[in-house]
Amino acid sequence: MSFDRKIKIAPSILSADFANFGAECQAIEEQGADWVHVDVMDGHFVPNITFGPAMCAAIRPHIKGVMDVHLMIAPVDPYIDAFAQAGADVITAHAEAGPHVHRTLQAIRAAGAKAGLALNPGTPAGAVEPLLDMVDLVCVMTVNPGFGGQKFIDMTDKIRALRAMIGDRPVHIEIDGGVDPSTAPLVTRAGADVLVAGSAVFKGGSVGNPQVYGDNIRAIRQAAEGVYA
Ligand code: DX5
Ligand code: ZN
Repeated sequence: MSFDRKIKIAPSILSADFANFGAECQAIEEQGADWVHVDVMDGHFVPNITFGPAMCAAIRPHIKGVMDVHLMIAPVDPYIDAFAQAGADVITAHAEAGPHVHRTLQAIRAAGAKAGLALNPGTPAGAVEPLLDMVDLVCVMTVNPGFGGQKFIDMTDKIRALRAMIGDRPVHIEIDGGVDPSTAPLVTRAGADVLVAGSAVFKGGSVGNPQVYGDNIRAIRQAAEGVYA
């Protein structure tokens, strides 16, 4: 996984057909997705339950590119190796998920994955500062995690502060929640490069009608890059 700051669209399969994840992953990649974002929820750290490492291992052969696993679970550390072995390229844990986030990031890198740190809307940018050399990605939540299809919360000041803090380090800024063609330019202008989008990618499409996914991905990318279609 090489580093660059080109805009990357990462559809969240939380909005896909849960009975058909393999075909959904193939369809979004064929339609231009850069990364595949996998939302793992435990019903404890967030008020919803999705899936675990076995599901990640099952979809891995259907993903050619980057599998980006967002862990909304607490505790995190006992499960890191399982998600790494399932083939996660990026494993993102939440800063709020426990008292030993430094140890969590060490464990993610030791397991051979890129380390991501996610910040809930109520957590300041400064929480990342002592950890900047231990992360490959900072995920700025623009909704309270737990569900797809929620309204975008403006975190542009936090994104700008993070972008300045990161400087020349090879650290991605990922945005997660409520990203669509109207909100994408706000966050890329502030310094984000990876855009997670669930409902805005999957709405209106299906594996039988995947061109809609392509249209949706293109609309987000063009808006993010400042090309208003
Ligand atoms: C929220 C998840 C997001 C979510 C995004 O807890 O982490 O990845 O699926 O969905 P949309 O794009 O619909 O807000
Ligand atoms: Zn997510």
